[in-house]
Amino acid sequence: MEDLYGRKIDYLRISVTDRCNLRCIYCMPPEGIKPKAHDDIIRFEDILLVAEVALEMGIKRFRLTGGEPLVRKGVIPFIGALSRLPGAEDVSLTTNGILLSQTAARLKESGIRRINISLDTMNPKTYRELTRGGDLRAVWEGIEKALEIGFDPVKINIVALRGINDKEWVDFARLTLDKPLHVRFIELMPIGSSRQMAEENFVSCWEVKEVIERELGELTPVIGVNGNGPAEYQRLQGAVGTIGFIHAISEHFCDSCNRLRLTADGKLRPCLFDRREIDLKKAIQEGASRKELQLLFRKAVQLKSANYREAERAGNEGRTMVQIGG
Ligand code: 5AD
Ligand code: SF4
Repeated sequence: MEDLYGRKIDYLRISVTDRCNLRCIYCMPPEGIKPKAHDDIIRFEDILLVAEVALEMGIKRFRLTGGEPLVRKGVIPFIGALSRLPGAEDVSLTTNGILLSQTAARLKESGIRRINISLDTMNPKTYRELTRGGDLRAVWEGIEKALEIGFDPVKINIVALRGINDKEWVDFARLTLDKPLHVRFIELMPIGSSRQMAEENFVSCWEVKEVIERELGELTPVIGVNGNGPAEYQRLQGAVGTIGFIHAISEHFCDSCNRLRLTADGKLRPCLFDRREIDLKKAIQEGASRKELQLLFRKAVQLKSANYREAERAGNEGRTMVQIGG
């Protein structure tokens, strides 16, 4: 499907739950977010219908996000069914890694090849504080298991945070020297709980890159790292893995946007920053035909703004990252 600006939309991010087993400080307020009632969450069978319609519209790649996708009961059989849909080229997963070591083998069997793990610090104490209680060891076990089982690529997502993980950027970069990891630095986006933090802790990826190069030598661009997203990949000399930078704020990549998002309550969202949503769950409940669902997809694609500024004008209040899925 093409949008009004000639961009090809072929990628859908599916948030399967708004629940999470962590409460990262930039994602949620201290008291957490009241999760939606079970009935307000879109059923797996309805997501499969949405995915079938998406496939009919030329959307062939899917990424599961959350909250934390692995906390939803039945998610692994669901992933199996999604990957088996005719025409589905790629089903990938973004997870915080806490439940990964015990699910990795089944995830691989159910069709996941590509996995992104969110990890902002390698210090157990900082991790506990940043995630409000998370156990870093569990995530490491998950990462090791993922490499052992042979997911490819295994990416680590690090939100760069001044005063919190700035002393660790170089250590993260060093991981790529002897492990086939793709380490990606993400700029903090001012969404929901992170609005305040974005003022105090924001760092541009340019700065992260500079710090890494100063310490470890020049990075050279890599072409052909398998991905659907906006990251730009670089490599340290002699490294097995790569380092990516997602300039979410300092340099918008709206021009090459290829995606729609499905929220955990079944709404199709044209852009992370745009709150105009299309309620597919309700449409399905009311018995919409496939043709009608196709039209709703087309409508969502047409709602896509030319860029971040325009989308933001429509506003993103009322939702935080855990509800949209990153
Ligand atoms: N800015 C940037 N990244 C964020 N994430 C969650 N909230 C924010 C934010 N405000 C990241 C998570 C995870 C991915 C899904 O989104 O750390 O890596
Ligand atoms: Fe959970 Fe991810 Fe939000 Fe952290 S950032 S609380 S892991 S959804």
